[in-house]
Amino acid sequence: MKNPHSLVRPIVRALHPYVPGEQPKIKGLIKLNTNENPYPPSPKVLAAIKAAVDGRLRLYPNPTALKLREKLAKLHRCRPESIVVGNGSDELLALATRAFVEPAAPTGSHLNAGSHRRRPMSRPTPSPLPGRELASSAPGVAPLRGGAGGGFVDPIESQFELERSRSTVQFFTSSYSLYPVLAAIHGARSNAVPLAKRFALPSVPELRRGKRWDFQAALTFITTPNAPSGRGYATAELETLCRAQRGVVVLDEAYVDFADENALALALRLPNVLVARTFSKAYSLCYLRIGYFVGHPDLIEAVDKIRDSYNVNGLGQIAALATLGDLAYYRGNFRKVIATRSRLSNELAALGFEVFPSQTNFLLARPPLFTAEQWLAKLRARKILVRWFRLPEVKDYLRISIGTNVETAALAKAAKEILGRP
Ligand SMILES: Cc1ncc(COP(=O)(O)O)c(C=O)c1O
Repeated sequence: MKNPHSLVRPIVRALHPYVPGEQPKIKGLIKLNTNENPYPPSPKVLAAIKAAVDGRLRLYPNPTALKLREKLAKLHRCRPESIVVGNGSDELLALATRAFVEPAAPTGSHLNAGSHRRRPMSRPTPSPLPGRELASSAPGVAPLRGGAGGGFVDPIESQFELERSRSTVQFFTSSYSLYPVLAAIHGARSNAVPLAKRFALPSVPELRRGKRWDFQAALTFITTPNAPSGRGYATAELETLCRAQRGVVVLDEAYVDFADENALALALRLPNVLVARTFSKAYSLCYLRIGYFVGHPDLIEAVDKIRDSYNVNGLGQIAALATLGDLAYYRGNFRKVIATRSRLSNELAALGFEVFPSQTNFLLARPPLFTAEQWLAKLRARKILVRWFRLPEVKDYLRISIGTNVETAALAKAAKEILGRP
């Protein structure tokens, strides 16, 4: 018998998996580390779930979450064919990677053999025409045209760049740290490009000048509003970027219900754009794992083809449907979270924290006096859990989920104590 470790694919052996926020079961803990909603699901949702817990659990759920898709379609004024539901939006992000990105060719192939060429990542790409439709071929494989000046294009180099783009999952840093993990699992290439100052979205001309952004990338993830900064992006700037991309763009709107603007219209207007939504954060349903994509039926069909037949559990479908029947309750919660966000932001700023404006249910804040890592430990010692990322762009910051007024008041009190303030 071989060493079992050697039976694992090298790509999996080498993988650094996604690290979820802690879920410790410590009595009295104030949990502000995973952006969960501090308010429970609506009483109507809880009643619907309870009423469904009976002998029917032995049956498979609806394989296409049809009723839920129909209700979502009404809400978003599209057809059910424009929607696919997933086991959380995380599942859909993974499926998008598998549906739209070619795994990179194995070592030794002509693709890798060409890697010594060290060409700039994105030579200038001709702007697509406004309102262009997606090329009839697969996303990300639009034919390369001549260079910006119409000069000579080395066909081998073009072929090489095109194949690299087909295997590219692209995203900004910082954003959701799952994206590079999905690329790695799939054997695809990650193209991580820094956001502009203060987590702003770089403009298309800036991205062209930077030469690192790939306008042909098979798949681009944009977290909007951004995580972990909380910064919101205007639909107009997202639209310009989506129109410049030749591959699929997923606008990951996990936190959008706490924002002033959303970009759902782009998914209905542009054939290469998918908007990802989740019931986890704004609708207090992390536990039941429901997310969905909205987009062009051709893209939706591709994701639908490769998902598990019963990817969405039955209780989750029932809960999500009941949620859509009680949106007024949730809108009340959004308002409460936004009001608490504003109060906490002011309190932390008064204590010397540098707090970024947030369009989400969390704040990114640079604490004073001690390092962010030390703050993490000091708050934990006071039974308050927040999130700290060791990544270079955000290692000086804490990410603090917005809790109830009581929870955030406890955080502000603990911060005062740590700073030795009366
Ligand atoms: C930006 C972003 N996208 C997607 C998700 C995943 O949400 P879900 O619970 O729907 O899988 C998260 C969860 O933390 C997130 O932060």
